[in-house]
Amino acid sequence: MPASPDPELHAAAVDVFERAHCPYSEYHVGAAIRTVGGEVFVGCNVENASYPEGWCAETSAIAAMVSTLGPSARIADIVTVTVGDTPGTPCGGCRQRIREFSTPDTVIHATTVDGAVDTMTIDELLPSSFGPERLLE
Ligand code: THU
Repeated sequence: MPASPDPELHAAAVDVFERAHCPYSEYHVGAAIRTVGGEVFVGCNVENASYPEGWCAETSAIAAMVSTLGPSARIADIVTVTVGDTPGTPCGGCRQRIREFSTPDTVIHATTVDGAVDTMTIDELLPSSFGPERLLE
């Protein structure tokens, strides 16, 4: 498992991090996915004046991926970017959304703008997970 993200994927996540719409939390999050086929998709958090209607960066990136490639798309690596001394890891809902489009080899790099990295597999991020094979296979 690569212990650090591909620099290009990290740069893509930092770039979209800058475009987050987060006037309420002021907490920018960027996410960049590289698919198993090598395509890159990005997303940021998009908040709303009606607070519960906002959504996460990982959700935006997954929506962009599926909207372009369809439901057979699979995540090889996902890089998230936050501020702070330590990386903010994906929330519970996003862990499940990442899981939906993961393979057993999917890697998550939670990072900061300044370069701190926390790398984990999907099974470490969401152990004993409930996935599509439970219903579809
Ligand atoms: N947020 C994300 O974009 N991804 C996560 O995994 C955790 C939280 C966003 C949602 C909200 O806009 C802000 O961070 C503060 O919770």
